[in-house]
Amino acid sequence: MIDLWYKGAVIYCLDVEVYMDGNGDGVGDFVGLIDRLDYIAGLGINCIWLMPFYPTPNRDNGYDITDYYNVDPRLGTLGDFVEFTRQASHRGLRVIVDLVVNHTSTDHPWFQAACKDKNSKYRDYYVWAEEKPENAEEGVIFPGYQESTWTYNEEAGAYYFHRFYDHQADLNVANPEVREEIYKVMGFWLQLGVSGFRVDAVPFLIELEGIKDTAEAKDPLLFLKEIRNFLSWRRGDAIVLAEVNEPMDKIADYFGDGDRMQLLFSFLGNQTLTLALAREEATPLIEGLKAQPVPPDVGQWAYFVRNHDELTLDKLSDAEQNEILQRFGQDKEQVWIYDRGIRRRFPPLVDNDPRRIRLAYSLMLTLPGTPVLFYGEEIGMGDDLSIEERNAIRTPMQWSDQPNGGFSTADSDKLVRSVINEEPYGYQQLNVIAQRRDPGSLLNWMERAIRMRKECPEFGWGQWEIIETDNPAVFAHRCEWRKGTVIALHNLSSQSCVVSLQLKDEDANCLTDVLEDQPYEGVEQGCHDIELEGYGYRWFRVGGVHL
Ligand code: NOJ
Repeated sequence: MIDLWYKGAVIYCLDVEVYMDGNGDGVGDFVGLIDRLDYIAGLGINCIWLMPFYPTPNRDNGYDITDYYNVDPRLGTLGDFVEFTRQASHRGLRVIVDLVVNHTSTDHPWFQAACKDKNSKYRDYYVWAEEKPENAEEGVIFPGYQESTWTYNEEAGAYYFHRFYDHQADLNVANPEVREEIYKVMGFWLQLGVSGFRVDAVPFLIELEGIKDTAEAKDPLLFLKEIRNFLSWRRGDAIVLAEVNEPMDKIADYFGDGDRMQLLFSFLGNQTLTLALAREEATPLIEGLKAQPVPPDVGQWAYFVRNHDELTLDKLSDAEQNEILQRFGQDKEQVWIYDRGIRRRFPPLVDNDPRRIRLAYSLMLTLPGTPVLFYGEEIGMGDDLSIEERNAIRTPMQWSDQPNGGFSTADSDKLVRSVINEEPYGYQQLNVIAQRRDPGSLLNWMERAIRMRKECPEFGWGQWEIIETDNPAVFAHRCEWRKGTVIALHNLSSQSCVVSLQLKDEDANCLTDVLEDQPYEGVEQGCHDIELEGYGYRWFRVGGVHL
């Protein structure tokens, strides 16, 4: 029996290293995280996505792994991990973990062995060339920080392929032994209690760069199906949430007929949402959503406002990218990275305006898919642009106004990354405890909004459609599932309005507000004109609300 629990999930992504330090050494750890599980469950989250927590030299925030079967000793032990999954499950929280198998760290023993001995079985775990390929300067993912995709290794006497940084050597997935290793890794963590994986860099995982001429190279999409089969055999309700930022004519392949990846991040949705918010017009978002293929029955889009990387705008034109920077009042020099994105969290893009922040998260929670929150978004954390690259947005969680924001009792110069210290995002003002005490805080809003989202399963499960309006600033949509219908309206502009909606008669007959930015007069029967404050939003249930 297939279990589509992820259609009703609210996912929370966190990095153990910066979440909560349980032993006072300045680095977050599993003991600290276990202590915060009640907080996460209390927020209404029902699935945690853990960013990489494996042994690593940490040159790409843990996406450079040296051992797939262990926990980074700075973060704890396998015992702590199992205690964590058990405690999470007691609170009804599922756990998914990052599966980073496009590449290993060049410090991984497999790569080391491959370099040392041409005849080692590990040689063929990676992708090699005797001569530097002509296209070595093309397709770099981190321009400005990565020069090439092929780097010479003295000891190996050959060039190895790396789609990402030069310390992340790509695995050769055409090699059946490598595939076996990947299944073993998946099986290991499934056995320890996880409900699936966020799979890193999927299009690169299956690319045949450097290996297309080998006898074993076969239809790369078949591998996705094999991954899915393996997962289902081992654990029927386990999922893959895939990182796939591909053009729309290729993306449906990643869902297949529902036999490949179940969840795909909606990068297009994210970018068109950002453009819509910047422009204060619904059209880009409407077009973005319509351009995406409809997922198969078991498939689902995952929506986010910000993730742990740069806010990539690669699907937009240069003019649109510049428009976003300009409308959000950003200094390109400081914030633009990899020729495609913004290394900032969301609140600093909108001047920390609580109305615009809530508007964005209200959209995320109602878009037809599964919402994914990045830790700290629930309290509106900011960023620190003095920290290099994407780490600007990966500062420690701000729990309280205590030293180091309550993240750690270590001396502040021992912290894995410094805590934000300056107004208005500094931990002295912006922290969990302060927001708990304030009924009007973002944290309390988020908790309410998540609760309502869960009470409106139609947003995650339903068939959806755009509702036509007479106001280009208003995004209006309707989701229907089983016998329920919900409607959400979002006014992207600062101007209040009365929007006229092309509602079906049966919908207009009874709209009951379930979440809104401020108290409104109820909507009268048969009425198609609805009031919205500037940056206002209203979620309605069609028919009465029964509890
Ligand atoms: C995608 C991850 O989200 C990013 O943080 C990482 O740098 C690359 N993959 C390489 O693993």
